[in-house]
Amino acid sequence: MNDSSTTQDYGEAPLEVRDTNQYQAEYIRSFVAKWDELIDWDRRMSSEGEFFIEVLRKHGARKVLDAATGTGFHSVRLHHAGFEVSSVDGNPVMLAKAFENALDRNIILRTVQADWRWLNRDVHDLYDAVICLGNSFTHLHDENDRRKALAEFYATLRHDGVLILDQRNYDAILDQDVEPSHDYYYCGDSVRATPEYVDDSLARFRYEFAGGETYHLNMFPLRRNYVRRLLHEVGFQRVTTYGDFQQTYRDGEPDFFIHVAEKRYVEGGESE
Ligand SMILES: C[S@@+](CC[C@H](N)C(=O)[O-])C[C@H]1O[C@@H](n2cnc3c(N)ncnc32)[C@H](O)[C@@H]1O
Repeated sequence: MNDSSTTQDYGEAPLEVRDTNQYQAEYIRSFVAKWDELIDWDRRMSSEGEFFIEVLRKHGARKVLDAATGTGFHSVRLHHAGFEVSSVDGNPVMLAKAFENALDRNIILRTVQADWRWLNRDVHDLYDAVICLGNSFTHLHDENDRRKALAEFYATLRHDGVLILDQRNYDAILDQDVEPSHDYYYCGDSVRATPEYVDDSLARFRYEFAGGETYHLNMFPLRRNYVRRLLHEVGFQRVTTYGDFQQTYRDGEPDFFIHVAEKRYVEGGESE
């Protein structure tokens, strides 16, 4: 792990790094310090509006586990909206930054450092909702890890709980060579996020900040229908997929997909 240096370590062959544990070496201190320039809290707040708050309220959720806390954007928003929030992240540098960001807003975050793959080892409670947002699930490079993480999310939900999980529209990037916009999620003006290399099992993004600092993330390019299938296979009964916060969209258009996966039993199951 390389959490205190200013350079990320991908070794000799960065394109060969397709490892679920790599997120620990990617979110180093200097990158985490710049993360909020990338997401721009104010612009992100106005672009997503009340979407997640409304979905959570619609499902009667009160107690929420933010599984990919990052620097705390959604934990803080949901706290302000009156939800009881627990904030999980596997990366200690991210979690420390989230705590600090929340403290600046007079909130003491309930933080737990845990990797999703063994979430229930470290979190011993049940939640009405789990959120995994900001294109975080993409960090799991191995199918077994994706299944295990989803099973852990499922297990920490009450019998009728919901999982809200989002992802970049990798279908558009893989099939149509589309560059992501900055309109909805990673809204910062002073940073450019570009897919530097893409194949069926790697999307390597470059993040260039105004001061010239450059960082990368090696991610797994999740296809929308693949994620929907996995969600069904671990037991979620109904999966509703939104494109950039809209239920109706044309496939190539959205930057992000948001899956709302319900645990509540559906007679006969939902057809895809
Ligand atoms: C792209 S950031 C998104 C953070 C935040 N949700 C946002 O939208 O700004 C992904 C986050 O997921 C965390 N993460 C990645 N893989 C993880 C894993 N296996 N277990 C726990 N956390 C993980 C990272 O540490 C990082 O904070």
